[in-house]
Amino acid sequence: MFSGTTNVTCPVCEQPLGFEESRDRTLSCEAGHRFDAAKQGYFNFLTGKGTNFLEDTSAMVQARDAFQSKGHYEPLARALSELINDHHDGHSLDVLDAGAGTGYYLGKILENSPAAELDALALDISRFAMRRAAKVPSTLAVVWDVWRKLPTADRSRDVVINCFAPHNPAEFQRVLRTGGLCVVVTGEPDHLNEVVDPLGMLTVGQGKQAALVEKFAAEGLNHLGSKNLTYRMNLNADDLYNLAFMGPSGHHLSPEILHQQTLALGSQPVTASFGVHAFVTQG
Ligand SMILES: C[S@@+](CC[C@H](N)C(=O)[O-])C[C@H]1O[C@@H](n2cnc3c(N)ncnc32)[C@H](O)[C@@H]1O
Ligand SMILES: [Zn+2]
Repeated sequence: MFSGTTNVTCPVCEQPLGFEESRDRTLSCEAGHRFDAAKQGYFNFLTGKGTNFLEDTSAMVQARDAFQSKGHYEPLARALSELINDHHDGHSLDVLDAGAGTGYYLGKILENSPAAELDALALDISRFAMRRAAKVPSTLAVVWDVWRKLPTADRSRDVVINCFAPHNPAEFQRVLRTGGLCVVVTGEPDHLNEVVDPLGMLTVGQGKQAALVEKFAAEGLNHLGSKNLTYRMNLNADDLYNLAFMGPSGHHLSPEILHQQTLALGSQPVTASFGVHAFVTQG
């Protein structure tokens, strides 16, 4: 029925999914469950009831894309690539991004990887995010809720990344190969501190590093180490608008008021401060 298997599993019966020979835009399993790609190239596995979570809107995803394409978070993308390339030197690299957004970090990681064979799975509940992630080369973009069992086989991934998105360490551990790397990125307390109040931004409490490490260790992910990456960004009014709108505040902020506020603030230096936490699976 299908040609070859992928590392993606059927959200209904958990059997391997593969592309149908005649249609490379249809994934199906042996039991006959079929998923057609949307015209923008992503797949939606959230059939039935869907999810209770609020997806990032088209405007929020557009703001994220505009902000990221200016390179403001490039140092973080570089740090992720270096960490992954130092840890993994195989011929192939199989990455899963849980809560991938536009696929920005995935794209940079794949671009900077010396591996000859690249395979990536981007998961996010936002259809608008997955439209963009579907454009990242070597990447299958799937609308999915990361709190559920992830649609990929046990021990099928070399690396899991999870940036500013919900953590599901039990599932990250299940899908990682022995010795596989899991990298979690969080915002540090001083992240964007110059503009959080003036722009009415919501900060999503990421919890303390010790709590994160404990939560991951409880699922069999050993803490390799954490690093803080802090630098100043020079942001103009457009950047500030996109920054405020691309995060959770984008669900609540009025575009008109935000526009006025960012014009009033003008250009200014803003602190980027990330916690980059690395874990490895136990044998
Ligand atoms: C702050 S954004 C980060 C996106 C991306 N990792 C980045 O850093 O550019 C959080 C992302 O998590 C996604 N998200 C939130 N809850 C989710 C869930 N339960 N399952 C999958 N994705 C989720 C949102 O749609 C959004 O794209
Ligand atoms: Zn199936």
